[in-house]
Amino acid sequence: MDAIRWEGNTLYLLDQTRLPVQEDWIAYTDFRSVARAITDMVVRGAPAIGITAAYAYCLAALEFRNAPDFAAAMEQAEQVLAASRPTAVNLFWALRRMADCLKANGSTPEAIDVLIQEAQAIHEEDVEMNRTLGDFGAAVVPAHARILTHCNAGSLATGGYGTALGVVRSAFNQGKVDMVYADETRPLLQGARLTAYELVHDNIPCTLITDNMAGFLMAQGKVDLVILGCDRMAANGDFANKIGTYSVAVNARYHGIPFYTALPSSTIDLSIEDGSGIPIEERPGVEVTHLAGVQTAPEQVRTWNPAFDVTPHQLLTGIITERGVIYPPFKENLAKLFG
Ligand code: MRU
Repeated sequence: MDAIRWEGNTLYLLDQTRLPVQEDWIAYTDFRSVARAITDMVVRGAPAIGITAAYAYCLAALEFRNAPDFAAAMEQAEQVLAASRPTAVNLFWALRRMADCLKANGSTPEAIDVLIQEAQAIHEEDVEMNRTLGDFGAAVVPAHARILTHCNAGSLATGGYGTALGVVRSAFNQGKVDMVYADETRPLLQGARLTAYELVHDNIPCTLITDNMAGFLMAQGKVDLVILGCDRMAANGDFANKIGTYSVAVNARYHGIPFYTALPSSTIDLSIEDGSGIPIEERPGVEVTHLAGVQTAPEQVRTWNPAFDVTPHQLLTGIITERGVIYPPFKENLAKLFG
């Protein structure tokens, strides 16, 4: 399963706002429309946002190839793309890599072919990292595991295969997974619409629950471990992930359940010391007052809609990466592997 394709100088995105009811691919040749698609979550998930931005950078280069000041136009395009969503660091990581590539190749339109190759490399490397971290992560999954996950950290959120769901896929292929519990993930239902869709598609046993059921499920002894994704990890291991992650982490700690996040190195931001420095996106209140377009609350009510929360590293059992599984002390061990 994939959600991002580059063919004939055109970017195609699987419209994730329509899944699982419709599988619509949208073609993009304008980088500004791609920036809007990221904001509107046609494409979402930290690594997928980064890959998409890299391809969008190529669309900008194609558009500006005859511009009087190509380098200045590209800097502006980079800013437009960087403003699309604030939390997932993969967006800024990918844009930096593309801008560095352009600079290293003379900052001229002659670099366009190399830029396209760079975006494709970012895409391919992401799938490779997912497969590697999936195999490392499978080692921490016990036999007959019942795994809880939150949001969608699967093929749809990445270049393919997935981070948390990459671990699930690798462990399932080793015969270790009895059940995956998917939190539905209000307000935008990535767990119900996307994770359940991926797992059903791959014939991996899946049970969908609403977010408020996770604690009771744990209390009943039905969860052996939690594995979920990450949008940005600070140098000390604090990490931002989909809103609700923190509640799952607190519940897991109370019930003595191992709690892991899985992420590629492109999601680690060593420039931020701890979780308090991670910018948290706040989205429109209509996502809280409405469910799938149907009003479920009075229009006048106040809302608060942070798209992510920060989980302190103290609640983590381990961090699953493409270079291995990291255990405490996280700050020292993250620096050793990625510093
Ligand atoms: O708002 P979203 O859907 O982009 O949030 C996605 C998540 O929080 C994922 O868990 C995270 O990006 C990891 S994806 C491999």
